[in-house]
Amino acid sequence: MSAVEPAWGQPLLRPYELGQLVLPNRVVMAPMTRARANNVALAPTDLHATYYAQRAGAGLIVTEGSWVSADAIGALNVPGMYSDAQVEGWTAVTSAVHAAGGTMFAQLGHTGAASHPEYRGGQLPVAPSAVNPGAMVFTSLGLVETVTPRALTVREIDGIVRDYRAAALNARRAGFDGIEIHAQRGYLIAQFLNPALNVRTDAYGGSPANRARFLFDILDAVVEVWDPGRVGIKIAPYANSADGTEPDAEILAGYEHVTERLNDYPLAYVHLMMTRRPNVTVTYAQRRQALEHFRPLYLGTLIANASLGQESGNAVIAEGLADLVSYGLPFIANPDLPARFAAHLDLSPADRETLYQGGAQGYVDYPPASRSGTQSLAATE
Ligand SMILES: Cc1cc2nc3c(=O)[nH]c(=O)nc-3n(C[C@H](O)[C@H](O)[C@H](O)COP(=O)(O)O)c2cc1C
Repeated sequence: MSAVEPAWGQPLLRPYELGQLVLPNRVVMAPMTRARANNVALAPTDLHATYYAQRAGAGLIVTEGSWVSADAIGALNVPGMYSDAQVEGWTAVTSAVHAAGGTMFAQLGHTGAASHPEYRGGQLPVAPSAVNPGAMVFTSLGLVETVTPRALTVREIDGIVRDYRAAALNARRAGFDGIEIHAQRGYLIAQFLNPALNVRTDAYGGSPANRARFLFDILDAVVEVWDPGRVGIKIAPYANSADGTEPDAEILAGYEHVTERLNDYPLAYVHLMMTRRPNVTVTYAQRRQALEHFRPLYLGTLIANASLGQESGNAVIAEGLADLVSYGLPFIANPDLPARFAAHLDLSPADRETLYQGGAQGYVDYPPASRSGTQSLAATE
C-alpha cells in the first residue's frame, strides 16, 4: 500500500456501526492495566484522563480492567468502579475522552483465585473451588505465587453478581459509552469456565452450561442496567492450553458453548484474544485458525486481538474473519495509532520497564507521530 492511498482504502480505517455508536475506524485500544491509581481510593487521576484522551483517535477505547468491588482486587494501584471517588475520577476521564472525540467502554473484572491474602485483609482469595491456579500475582513484595483459594458459596456467588451489576451502573454514572466484561484468562469468570479449576458439583460446575452459569448470571445482571448493545465481553479460549496455541478440548467446548449462547443477547461485541500470553509466540497462521474457528459461531461483532499488526489487522477484516481489531502494546507507545496506520508510519516500541511502574514516565510521555520525528515507511524505503 502506498502512502498516498485514501484512508478508506484500509479496512482498519473504515467507520463501523457498533449498534447506535458510529466508530470512526476499526482500530480498538485493548484493555491494559497500567497501575497508575496510586492513591488510597484506587481512583483514576488527572494522569488517567490525559493518557486516555491522548488515545481518543481509537475507534473504541476499552479501559484497563477495573475492580467490581474491593473483594475483587488482585493487583497494585489498579482503579475500581465500586466507590463514589472512583466514579468521580472516571467521570473526568470519560469527559476528557469525549471532548477529544473518543468512545470508551469500561472493562470490569474480579481476580478470584488470582489474588493474594495481602489484598484481602489476610483472608484467602475466593474461587469456584479450592484449587490453586498456580499463577503469579503482583503484591507489595513483587511477584509471588498464588495460594490455594477458598470455594465460594452460592450465596457469595450471588453477591459477586450483584457487585458486577452495581459496577455496571457506576460505569453509566461515570459517563462511559458501554462496558466490557473481563472473562479473559486468569480472572474469576475464566476460572469458573476451566474444569481444572472448577470442580464444583452444584449448578455452577460440571457441564459446559453449568460452568458458564456464573458468566451468564453476570450478563443477565448487567443488561438490567445497560442495553445489551452497550455490553461487550473479552474471552481467551486458548488461555489454558499447554503451549498457548492448541486449546484444551474440554475448555474449548466450554467456550464454544459460551460463544453460541452469546448470540441470544445480542451484545455489542465479543472480543476474542487468540493467544495465551504475550511471551508465547503464536504464528499468524495459528491466530487465523482461532478466528476461523470462532467466527462462524458468533453472528455479532467480533473483535480480533493479540499480536496483530497493520497488515494482518487489515487482512483479517478484509477476509471477514473479524469486524474490528484491538491493539494493546502498540497503543502504549503510539497514542495516535490509527493516524500512524493511515500514513504508514513506523511504530514506536513500548518500554516494558515502565508498563506498571506508576507515574507519568512511560505513560503520558509518548508523543504523537507529528512530534516524535517518526518517518513514513514509504518516505524512507
Ligand atoms: C500492560 C498490559 C496490561 C494488560 N491488562 C489487561 C487488562 O486489564 N485486561 C485485559 O483483558 N487484558 C489486558 N491485557 C491484554 C491486552 O488487552 C491484549 O489482549 C494483549 O496485550 C494482546 O494484544 P497486543 O498483542 O496487541 O498487545 C494487558 C496487556 C498488557 C500489555
